[in-house]
Amino acid sequence: MADLRTTYMGVPLANPIVVGSCSLSKSIESIKRLEQAGAGGLVVKSLFEEQIQMEEEEFRTRLGDLEPGFAEAVSMFPKMEHGGPKQHLYWVAEARKEVKMPIFASLNCVSRVTWGDYAKQLEGTGVNGLELNFYSPALDPEVTASDIEKRELSILESVRAAVKIPIAVKLHPHYTSLMNVVSRMEAAGADAFVLFNRLLQPDIDVDGLTRHSAVGLSAPGESLLPLRWVAILRDRTMADLIASTGIWTGRDVAKMVLVGAKAVQVVSVLYREQAGHIQKMLRELTAWMDAHNFASLDAFRGKLGQKQGTDAWSFARGQYIKALVGVD
Ligand SMILES: Cc1cc2nc3c(=O)[nH]c(=O)nc-3n(C[C@H](O)[C@H](O)[C@H](O)COP(=O)(O)O)c2cc1C
Repeated sequence: MADLRTTYMGVPLANPIVVGSCSLSKSIESIKRLEQAGAGGLVVKSLFEEQIQMEEEEFRTRLGDLEPGFAEAVSMFPKMEHGGPKQHLYWVAEARKEVKMPIFASLNCVSRVTWGDYAKQLEGTGVNGLELNFYSPALDPEVTASDIEKRELSILESVRAAVKIPIAVKLHPHYTSLMNVVSRMEAAGADAFVLFNRLLQPDIDVDGLTRHSAVGLSAPGESLLPLRWVAILRDRTMADLIASTGIWTGRDVAKMVLVGAKAVQVVSVLYREQAGHIQKMLRELTAWMDAHNFASLDAFRGKLGQKQGTDAWSFARGQYIKALVGVD
């Protein structure tokens, strides 16, 4: 029977299937269900500073809206304040206590100071590691790509200085020079990279003439983008690589390990097929490993990375040329 154990940023996982950050981790019951279904680990829903800010604003507005008489009564009680991230921290700490599998926190902040502060508070919940969810759309024409990358690096440095737990950076696929970003982030203290985040896009309802935010689930073919970048980065970084986007089957997991991934993250397939699908993926992965006589993940990890084999160019530009040559 194949051994599915792996490690992620030094944290042992019973198998390489990690539940990615999403609302499936919103309740402790659902986190327990995912563990029972066989998840090797789980990244909890991100703590979004903007959401806390909006809630604080609404809380202050509501206090201000109170009847004058009642507002005076309020002033007799100790000062009322919004709890900030306390509720999120409490729930992450509960999740950590209630299950055995490794639990990773996820963070997306607005100001540089808060990143380090919230990261420290998340570390205090006992989580096994922290994922930094770096994404804010660049809308200011004066701000260059280099400005954005410098800001992200300086945030990473401040979080690195604030916590001792391992840090993964969840990247989006739109950097002009991903290799450069990865190498600088590794030097700044990133222990792992999650490739890639999936950016949720607003949509237009042409009948109702309205905008709406559609939570689009990924399709299996989308896994080719992370596959390519895991393969390319595999021999160019010491950091762990975790593949995310479009991973739906045990064979998809095998592909990601073949190009060098330490683990994978799954989300969309669990929305579509429910938690029990993890068992099916693990069975498929085991059957594939048995069929190929691979006793462990290490036995085949990176066998088909970009630099392995005679067709080393296939993940780089050569692939593009070959595709063009093949087209009339
Ligand atoms: C409903 C939903 C909620 C998500 N929430 C978060 C989140 O809070 N933080 C985050 O970093 N990624 C979030 N994601 C992105 C996923 O973690 C994941 O990176 C992405 O969906 C790609 O994986 P998949 O193809 O398996 O869905 C969310 C995705 C979905 C579909």
